[in-house]
Amino acid sequence: MIVVIGSINMDLVLRVPRMPLPGETLAGGAFATIAGGKGANQAVAAARLGHVPVAMVGCVGDDGFGLTLRAALRADGIDERHVSTMAGVATGVASILVDASGQNSIVIAGGANDLLSPAHIDAAHDVIAQADIVVLQLEVPLATVRHAIALAQRLGKPVLLNPAPAQDVPAELLAMVTYLVPNEIEAAMLASSNSERGASVAGSDAAVEAAAAKLLAMGCANVLITLGADGVYEANAAGRRQYPAERVQAVDTTAAGDTFIGGFVAALAGGAAPADAIAYGQRAAAWSVTHTGAQTSIPYKRQLDAL
Ligand code: RIB
Repeated sequence: MIVVIGSINMDLVLRVPRMPLPGETLAGGAFATIAGGKGANQAVAAARLGHVPVAMVGCVGDDGFGLTLRAALRADGIDERHVSTMAGVATGVASILVDASGQNSIVIAGGANDLLSPAHIDAAHDVIAQADIVVLQLEVPLATVRHAIALAQRLGKPVLLNPAPAQDVPAELLAMVTYLVPNEIEAAMLASSNSERGASVAGSDAAVEAAAAKLLAMGCANVLITLGADGVYEANAAGRRQYPAERVQAVDTTAAGDTFIGGFVAALAGGAAPADAIAYGQRAAAWSVTHTGAQTSIPYKRQLDAL
């Protein structure tokens, strides 16, 4: 079983010709509400891209978005018994602008996600105890992430942490992670000291390598830095390897990283070697950037198999 602990959002999506300047009003394209949230996206990707059961642990509000998002998880066969509906609270939303090049800009109102607590994790002990891997991100409180990682470690379960959105994570927590999967900005932030903070590893192979080396030195067993069109950089005790990305015409990069992670863990939990699981995740992510939205862009295994 794959257990995903994290956020569940309704994405409010607008296409724009370009990102607006501060103070500017811009005419956009069609508006869409699309199921999203990094946690839910990763759970959906894992469910669609493999044959291993998936369970989601998270919170929604007692509103229409919450009902819709729970139904979306169920539609993909995900066990959502440990998704709690919080009374009097709004479901998380993400306001997303997508420009003509497919790049996005996202602002989140956490809502019910901010109420996911250590008690919710303890209540999900039964599914975590059955996990092949536990998957987390940082759109829920860090104290809850810490509690979940500690529980997974006590139970001897491997942990994948996607440290997104970028924020400080204590080194002792990173040392408990089996697979750390940051993008280039998150990698730079986690690897840098306060004085260096803000630097991105983008565009520099040496900086990517240095960030990965530092994260390994902090105790992560495996570091997979997602580099968008430049692929994935893997570092672990066995060595270093760059996996080039498939060349595609991107229309919307929303949830590409989530799709990679879902595909990676689905393959890994299904028995694939890590290198094959990375390549599979990349194939799924390449599909996702050629389709719009978050969960609307995540492929099913049969669609990738048919290519
Ligand atoms: O990673 C993409 C996701 O980030 C979106 O679906 C949005 O909800 C935010 O959580």
